[in-house]
Amino acid sequence: MDSIAYVNGSFVPLSEAKVSILDRGFLFADGIYEVSAVLGGKLVDNASHLARLERSVGEIQLKLPESIERIVEIQKELIARNKLDSGLVYIEVTRGADKGRDFAFPKGVTPTMIMFTSVKDIVNSASAKTGIPVITVPDIRWTRRDIKSVALLAQVLAKQAAAEAGAGEAWMIEDGKVTEGGSSSAFILTQDDVIVTRQNGSEILPGCTRKAVIKLAEERQLRVEERPFSIDEALKAKEAFITSASSFVQAVISIDGKQVGSGKPGPMTNRLREIYVDFARTTGT
Ligand code: PDD
Repeated sequence: MDSIAYVNGSFVPLSEAKVSILDRGFLFADGIYEVSAVLGGKLVDNASHLARLERSVGEIQLKLPESIERIVEIQKELIARNKLDSGLVYIEVTRGADKGRDFAFPKGVTPTMIMFTSVKDIVNSASAKTGIPVITVPDIRWTRRDIKSVALLAQVLAKQAAAEAGAGEAWMIEDGKVTEGGSSSAFILTQDDVIVTRQNGSEILPGCTRKAVIKLAEERQLRVEERPFSIDEALKAKEAFITSASSFVQAVISIDGKQVGSGKPGPMTNRLREIYVDFARTTGT
């Protein structure tokens, strides 16, 4: 059965949800997106995702067509209409459709806003239990990766290469250091039990799950260091993992075919995953 999507003020069956071929999201990737997880029918860490949405649209001088309060209402209505228990809500806002194809911002054009949901059992996914292999690729993206832009071609190619190699994610490398995964933040646990992940900046997306995991870890007196790390360091680490709205915390068991740690999800990764799942279940809105 068709799920229900939202397009510019209307709730419509997904198969009938359409935007113009002149939409600037389609022509120029002139748009921003967000993905929030849903667990037990509730939005996980949604305020953090919507704060990032507001920041991203601000960075490209795009105005949200609805208030944050209204966006939350629409998200919740979609969850209810689709009876979504566990999965994701996707939001995209673009600079809208003008009468032609002009690079500069159009005048008097209302931004496009669409949303849809997808079903995903994030807590019980097979790869959550086994962990995932990752491959490495050069980071060929633009230099404003802190903006959650829909221009994702570099990540499409990186994740396709990962899929072809039987891996679950691609870690992108710049100047000998890992920036992040194609659609996730990258972490290692050093031999002396320090959780390391790259510091925020224009080189990476400020992951909402990353932020929550760091806070939850620090509240438990775990040591966290925000700095770049190399693949050499990752291969010498005790554990490695990724975080994202669509995977929560997931172990990395190998990099380019070389085993990380025990080659199985390690105790710290499992612990952080449990802590995050508990956070997601108890603080959902
Ligand atoms: N991806 N880094 C990149 C490049 C991402 O695309 C994402 C999210 C993350 C993790 O951010 P968060 O923890 O806020 O989900 C890091 C989403 C899930 C996606 O593109 O589907």
